[in-house]
Amino acid sequence: MAFTGIATVVYGAPDLTLAKKLFSDWGLKEASRGKTAAVFITGAGGQVIACPENTPGLPPRISEQSNFREIVWGVSDQKHLVALAENLARDRAVTLDKAGTLHTTDDSGVHIGFRLWKPAAIKAGNPTIYNQPRLRARVNAVGTTYARAAPHRIGHAAFFVPDVKVAERFYVKRLGFWLSDRYAGGAAVFLRHAARSDHHNLFMLKSRTGGIDLHHFAYEVNDVHEVFGGGLYFSRRQWATAVGPGRHPISSAYFWYFRNPLGGMMEYFCDPDFVTEKWQPHNYKMNRFSEWHLADGIHVPEGGPVRPSLAMAKAIDEAGKAAR
Ligand SMILES: [Fe+2]
Repeated sequence: MAFTGIATVVYGAPDLTLAKKLFSDWGLKEASRGKTAAVFITGAGGQVIACPENTPGLPPRISEQSNFREIVWGVSDQKHLVALAENLARDRAVTLDKAGTLHTTDDSGVHIGFRLWKPAAIKAGNPTIYNQPRLRARVNAVGTTYARAAPHRIGHAAFFVPDVKVAERFYVKRLGFWLSDRYAGGAAVFLRHAARSDHHNLFMLKSRTGGIDLHHFAYEVNDVHEVFGGGLYFSRRQWATAVGPGRHPISSAYFWYFRNPLGGMMEYFCDPDFVTEKWQPHNYKMNRFSEWHLADGIHVPEGGPVRPSLAMAKAIDEAGKAAR
């Protein structure tokens, strides 16, 4: 399959005005205005759509706590889209809408779709120049700063799933995704949609509840200066930090996560590892990973969503060790 990236993300929005402020403050461009839905786009043309909750045809929530509705993957050509439809229709309902987008669910129950989509080309810009102790490369010039972010693309999605192995099997065996890395003991898996790709486009974490939920969507920006510029601006607009700024031990990316009132989190990131068919997947131990702090960093309201704790992640790790 020839996937081109995350083409569309759909949320239900009880307050469309608030959703518009959210995505506008995030740095996305509003592509169309209307009472029916708000459509925002990244630099590459990926869409983030906020729909009123009673919109006909809107997929249902995947959890009580989240208003996430669907992720749509871009596909390069019609031949692949047809092949996907035939493949998935063997064992699940697949529908085709008027715009040519396929809609179905993955084996974990997450609403997924596919549509023809070609990301807009990246305009060549000046590379970020850093001064290091032994190399003063930027001379007589002030460093780059950003007043706010303008995310180029939606780089990856992350979901809580009841069984990480089931999720991995679906995306690798049925869709042809590639395994990048795993957390030991079935705690989580990093997948990518092409052999030559960013380290991950999809991150699946073991759910503590046995249910599914959105964890986050990540938006790529140019460099760490834009992570900071965007994060500081978004903070000043009164949106709450979930975790960060910081750096991932896996994938090497710099990040800043914010809470998304529509569900899960939103992440600015930059400088991810880029891997090829030569990449050898790791089976990492839990104690290395800051990603688990993300789950711990989310505020859990009384009676609200239950997120995996670091202690629970370590328990999974121990169980995995015992099983080996
Ligand atoms: Fe992420």
